[in-house]
Amino acid sequence: MDDLTEWTELAEWWLEEIEDPAYSEEVMPMVEAITEPLSGTILDLGAGEGRVAAALARNDRHIISVDYNLVLLAKAAKVGPAVATELPDLRAFASGSVDAAYVVLALEHLSDIGGFFSAIAGIVKPGGLLAAVLNHPVYTAPGSGPVLDPRDDEMYWRFGDYLHPGASTEPAGGEVEFLHRPISDLFNAAADAGWSVQRVEEQGVGERATERDALLALHKDIPHLMAVRWQRSGI
Ligand SMILES: C[S@@+](CC[C@H](N)C(=O)[O-])C[C@H]1O[C@@H](n2cnc3c(N)ncnc32)[C@H](O)[C@@H]1O
Repeated sequence: MDDLTEWTELAEWWLEEIEDPAYSEEVMPMVEAITEPLSGTILDLGAGEGRVAAALARNDRHIISVDYNLVLLAKAAKVGPAVATELPDLRAFASGSVDAAYVVLALEHLSDIGGFFSAIAGIVKPGGLLAAVLNHPVYTAPGSGPVLDPRDDEMYWRFGDYLHPGASTEPAGGEVEFLHRPISDLFNAAADAGWSVQRVEEQGVGERATERDALLALHKDIPHLMAVRWQRSGI
């Protein structure tokens, strides 16, 4: 498959995915809250078609979309400046040229997480912020999932292979890979690159989703999304 076909198929998959009301009801409020203190020149890493950049636009923010999918990036370029690069390569940006960065539902697709945290640390000003919203690692472990106890209809969660890095795939034209890493791997990779945790939020499946879906209602207390804000050390 050539790059353009692959980008187009992945773009179609993603544009369909974000029609899911969970995106606006659950993901976006978390994104807005965790990115609230970000201002100045900000990178949207794995920006997709620029939907988040459009939603977060504010007078004190200059948001630059970064993605390697040129089909999605062409749409993001209609929202604001856009730069094509395959993360963790951020050589397009000079050291200290960026005030902050955020990454929404894209960390799960990046295999070199250490390289990712180091690359951003290399271009963000000391004291700069990095915010992330991701699928909760409890939710992404291969083999994890809801288990219904038929005796009392109580829903339990099978942890699957939580403790080790792993991957699962979803059909998206070709296949899109979701990487699982335990929370310790995520936080240690960030710490090793000089990022200190400023805030962490965890969230289950949203109330409106549980009203729509009886099965989801049964696992409403299982962690589903996580938001983290880090600060670059060395102020
Ligand atoms: C699930 S989408 C999220 C898009 C956007 N952040 C949002 O929430 O609307 C994941 C995005 O990450 C991008 N992506 C995945 N791996 C990447 C990489 N190595 N470099 C740059 N972008 C990448 C994909 O092209 C896609 O746009």
